[in-house]
Amino acid sequence: MKASASAPGKVILVGEHFVVEGSPAIAVAVDVRARATAEAAEGDLVTISSRELGEASFGPGAGGGPLYPVYVAVQEIFKRAGRRAGLRLTIESDIPPGAGMGSSAAVAAAAAAATARLLGLPLSPDEIAQAALAAETIVHGKPSGIDPAATSYGGAIYFKRGAKPERISADFGRVRLVLADSGIQRSTGALVARVLETKRRHPEVLEPLYKAAANLAEKARSALERGDFATVGELMNINHGMLSALGVSNAKLEELVYAAREAGALGAKITGAGGGGMIVALCWSEDAERVARALSGIAARTIVAPVSEKGATSALEG
Ligand code: PMV
Repeated sequence: MKASASAPGKVILVGEHFVVEGSPAIAVAVDVRARATAEAAEGDLVTISSRELGEASFGPGAGGGPLYPVYVAVQEIFKRAGRRAGLRLTIESDIPPGAGMGSSAAVAAAAAAATARLLGLPLSPDEIAQAALAAETIVHGKPSGIDPAATSYGGAIYFKRGAKPERISADFGRVRLVLADSGIQRSTGALVARVLETKRRHPEVLEPLYKAAANLAEKARSALERGDFATVGELMNINHGMLSALGVSNAKLEELVYAAREAGALGAKITGAGGGGMIVALCWSEDAERVARALSGIAARTIVAPVSEKGATSALEG
């Protein structure tokens, strides 16, 4: 018997970095997915293989290597099921890694969902998110949990650290997200640490900005609920300025953001940790290809993606 699962990438519409210190943020799942298949194997080893990361086997107590976080997510499922099992797990992903689209969380969520399906353990999106969060903690140190929540739930979520994510009811049928990759590699953990250090040095300056970011996320949520995408775009532009104030923008990201706005995006901003990685532009569907064309000459890669209503899903195969 074999189980397969997939989980979407995510884009933070508003609130990254501020979310680490308790402000709310809004993320949407996008239809670029990671997939996992799980098959029962003899013994109690879990063998994980990926085209990009090779293959590794993990037993009880073993650790380390690039595939270890995936094993941590699988272990969370074993804990919930109250038993271990020998497994052969194959993972693959269309989500560009290290670019702010939540590829590691999506891979972990897909692996957790496939394993749970194989073991016959029904899981809620929240339980899948918790398994993926255990994996993320190995990758990033102290993640807010927004990536695991977005990939597990799908659609748009309102996320506050420590609280159960809330699904936002919004119709994204008329809009597309255009993502443009700066091609600059960066470490989320290092950027989060740098922002927190800046805040520690200037609390009287930055605490009001964190309060403003919380207000911005609330306004963005209401605008999404009433389908007012022009206001969402405007709030994304304001949020980009706030992220620049935190020191996570650079000349390349500004170039991409301004090119997207000039080509007709409703709003454009850094998405994720910044310092490199991607920008996101919110566009009317009919404008998306034009905005993507304007970005393609100056970006390492562009992606036009609809919002995915489908979070992590799994099924048994023959
Ligand atoms: O991993 P990224 O680049 O999508 O960034 C995650 C968002 C941060 O707010 C910067 C960190 C976090 O854990 O929420």
